[in-house]
Amino acid sequence: MRIDSLRLVCFSPTGRSRTVIQGIARGIDHGTMELIDITTPQARKKPLETSGNELLIVAVPVYMGRVPALLTEWLRAIRAHGTPAVSVVVYGNRVYEDALLELTDILTRRGCRPIAGGAFIGEHSFSSAEAPTAGGRPDAADLHRAEAFGRKIREKLEAIPSVDRIPNVTIPGCRPYRGDPTLWTVDFIAVGDACTRCGTCAEGCPTGAIDPDEGYSADPEKCITCCACIKHCPAHARTMRPGPVRDASVRLSTLYRERKEPEYFL
Ligand SMILES: Cc1cc2nc3c(=O)[nH]c(=O)nc-3n(C[C@H](O)[C@H](O)[C@H](O)COP(=O)(O)O)c2cc1C
Repeated sequence: MRIDSLRLVCFSPTGRSRTVIQGIARGIDHGTMELIDITTPQARKKPLETSGNELLIVAVPVYMGRVPALLTEWLRAIRAHGTPAVSVVVYGNRVYEDALLELTDILTRRGCRPIAGGAFIGEHSFSSAEAPTAGGRPDAADLHRAEAFGRKIREKLEAIPSVDRIPNVTIPGCRPYRGDPTLWTVDFIAVGDACTRCGTCAEGCPTGAIDPDEGYSADPEKCITCCACIKHCPAHARTMRPGPVRDASVRLSTLYRERKEPEYFL
């Protein structure tokens, strides 16, 4: 079947899901493409509607083995009209549990026809130089796999006569989904003297949790512990205070050293 355009959707506080989806898009190599980054609250104000002549790819990070709960509202508002869709999850080398199945189910309920799914590895949000987990990933080998996945998606589409003839694709996972999407409410970020008040942290925060008038501190009620503000701070002024998140980063770095590899399902 012929696709007129490619719609790429990503939520990507620390940029790994975005890099993966761009790799997949390079493999598909379609001339007409739109990247819709729904990381900021502002971007999530605009709903998405897609047609049967487009290919939709959605990439999200795995949070607690699940699709991040703050995306539920936006994802549930998608109006897809028989759109072939690829679901992609990016996880920090621990486990993706049922997140890929959950994302595929959500897209199917919104009117998509799943044609493929992929689980890729991205540096863990809690990873640091002292306690690295999947540091530097996706790396060149991961992106090579992402491009190969993209080529396979294109070949599959070319072999399908029409949208109503898409064969079923088997995505691993169980229902009910195992992970608990509840995130920690924790005040874990220290803002050091190096802060120049440039505002980069507040601009990139996916929940609008950072208040310039409160010394750029993060509101624990809104913070989703994504660590984007720590990773994007140009002055390296934001660090993890001792406490549960820093403990988790050390634990992850010890327990999940063994490299996991991307998987895809077509
Ligand atoms: C609150 C939270 C929960 C997470 N839960 C998991 C998890 O269950 N399994 C895992 O392997 N990685 C987990 N991660 C790590 C992210 O999935 C991973 O770092 C991903 O690459 C982040 O994508 P992004 O760069 O697009 O934001 C979690 C990260 C955060 C912030």
